[in-house]
Amino acid sequence: MSTDSTTTDDAFPTDRPAVVTCGLPYANGDLHIGHLRGYIGADAFSRALETLGQETAYVSGSDMHGTPVAVNAEEEGVSPEEFAMEWHEQYEETFPKFNVDFDNYGHTHDETNTEFTQEIVRTLDDEGYVYEKEIQVAYDPDADQYLPDRYVEGTCPYCGEKARGDECDEGCQRHLEPGEVEDPTSTITGNAAEYRDRTHKFFEVSEFADYLTEFLDGLEGTSNARNQPRQWIEEGLQDWCLTRDMEWGIDYPNGDSETTEDIVLYVWVDAPVEYIASTKQYADRVGTDEYDWERVWKDDGDIVHVIGRDIIQHHTIFWPAMLEGAGYNKPRAVAATGFITINGKGLSTSRNRAIWAKEYLEEGFHPDLLRYYLTTTGGLQQDVDFSWDAFQEKVNGELVGTVGNFWYRSLLFAYRNYEGTPEADVSEEVAERIKGAIGQTREAVNDYSLRGIGQAATQLAQFGNEYIQRNEPWKLTDDDPEQAAQVIRDCVQIAKAVGVLLEPIAPDKAQALWEQLGEDGDVSDVHLEDALESPPRNFDEPGELFEKIEDDRVAELNEKLEERVAAAGDDDESDDNEETESDDTASDESAAMADEDEGEDAATGDLEPLLEERIGFEDFQELDIRVGRIESAEGIEGADDLAKLEVDIGFETRQVVAGIKQLHDLDELPGEKCILLANMEPAELFGVESNGMILAAGDEADLLTTHDDAVVGEKVQ
Ligand code: MF3
Ligand code: ZN
Repeated sequence: MSTDSTTTDDAFPTDRPAVVTCGLPYANGDLHIGHLRGYIGADAFSRALETLGQETAYVSGSDMHGTPVAVNAEEEGVSPEEFAMEWHEQYEETFPKFNVDFDNYGHTHDETNTEFTQEIVRTLDDEGYVYEKEIQVAYDPDADQYLPDRYVEGTCPYCGEKARGDECDEGCQRHLEPGEVEDPTSTITGNAAEYRDRTHKFFEVSEFADYLTEFLDGLEGTSNARNQPRQWIEEGLQDWCLTRDMEWGIDYPNGDSETTEDIVLYVWVDAPVEYIASTKQYADRVGTDEYDWERVWKDDGDIVHVIGRDIIQHHTIFWPAMLEGAGYNKPRAVAATGFITINGKGLSTSRNRAIWAKEYLEEGFHPDLLRYYLTTTGGLQQDVDFSWDAFQEKVNGELVGTVGNFWYRSLLFAYRNYEGTPEADVSEEVAERIKGAIGQTREAVNDYSLRGIGQAATQLAQFGNEYIQRNEPWKLTDDDPEQAAQVIRDCVQIAKAVGVLLEPIAPDKAQALWEQLGEDGDVSDVHLEDALESPPRNFDEPGELFEKIEDDRVAELNEKLEERVAAAGDDDESDDNEETESDDTASDESAAMADEDEGEDAATGDLEPLLEERIGFEDFQELDIRVGRIESAEGIEGADDLAKLEVDIGFETRQVVAGIKQLHDLDELPGEKCILLANMEPAELFGVESNGMILAAGDEADLLTTHDDAVVGEKVQ
């Protein structure tokens, strides 16, 4: 399981309005695959919520303020506003090309956001959560200016890695307060910075420690978004400096005092507020009867934040503290995605080791292919590697081979023999299988598992292929026309269901299928249960919806990528380590990406990150892990991956269901020793009870075992 969310009684769909957000992109450079993972992921999640019948808005906006924009604008010699607006407009054009369909996409510099931000800060101030303090701020005497955030570099006081003024983006990922980075140097002149006394506004985050602890206990989403902040709270929360010595940004409210004259709010104050502002703009457009933004943000709506794992602290500590202090609702879920690597190495914009949004489109690939790849390769928390080879394999195998093949062969057969949907009722077996897939989707949504949503669809298509193969309708058309019609009727229904289920991930392709079936309207407007409604009686000759990616195409793409990485100076590995970070500052470092240490990457490419939270020995003792011996192994009807095993664990024989059918030769398993978690809660899969869990690792489900004298029934300790 990639995400161990808490499934509550309050499962989706609820009768409350929901909002799904994704981390705001800094308006400072070209979009790439790292951004897209987050925006596509959140888009797919919001579409999936809608198919469940949940009222949902999907909003975001461009992050215009702060040093990430100011530094880059300065380099180009234009005003930050002009610079950010240009990128903002480009983002607005790009997202729809990936079927990322925001209900509202605003930006942080507009009036709505300015008003909300000032109102929230004013409330925090009025409520007594804000105080003034004199601190030391880095200053560059040659440039004659203060050095907030990205204007200063030095050493992280927590982990010793090189860090920027406000974030340890290459090390421990912590947010750093002004004055915290050690041995500061100016990124403007490269000189050592000096520290000067300045008075700033501080938010008493430390007062919220108990509130946040409780908040995290109820928070859904990915486990990293709960565990990391728990540790930070344990280590002691620091108050948060709300202001910066800059001109570009939102003014501190409450008029001009001497303190607030030359400062603006820190970019991380006004950026998340855009989630609220953007939701309100949406509600203003459609009418508050249609979408009640106040219920979402001030009362009990379901707020889901999809973010990159580098900004967990902002979303699970600062943001909920701000919301609580200012009297707003709290997030229901924070789902933090892993990073993207390219061919096993860290994505790097400065080294041009990235897949750019524009480039992908120019290559002529359909956006739904990338959407499918990014959402279903690995769990949400995992780092996902992109390579053109893996992309080809996934597209050709799962989309062309499984889904497209099933759609085409069943619809073509139906069209040729019946001019559409044959007149028959869907068989019970198939109706049940579709209901199972609907349940799987619903569960995946509640687990915040995009991969689960995709798998529900592809596994159903896989079942469809097996169903045709098993029933051989082409042999029946003459001998048993009624049975033939029945089988094809079933297949048409499965095809439609796969389309409905796949819509959140591949909306265009699902729509194309919808039209091939002669359905009216948009598949994005239908609910999961519509997967069981019969398609129109007649439809036209279908076409193939997915196209195979050829080997020479992949070779060409690999070559292009290699060439441009080499041109950016990455041909020599030793270069990487010497590369200065000022180079990266010139491009961007954003929500869903980061340059990571090369050596580590190569070794840990696809691995799920280690959990930071430690457990005690008693916790370990709670796991009753035993040596077992497999007595029998057989496949489970209708389940592609599952096998039913009988395992002797000394005291008794356990029946367990394991996802190893495709990966092992079942006939060879009896007699093998294995390791079994014996006190796993019983579960039922495809109607078969599972009473324990076999331990395995890796893509091929390598079974854990013992090698010497441990006997069956012995406890693992
Ligand atoms: N622009 C920030 C980044 O790329 C993300 C802002 S997300 C929000 O890291 F919460 F502030 F909205
Ligand atoms: Zn650090």
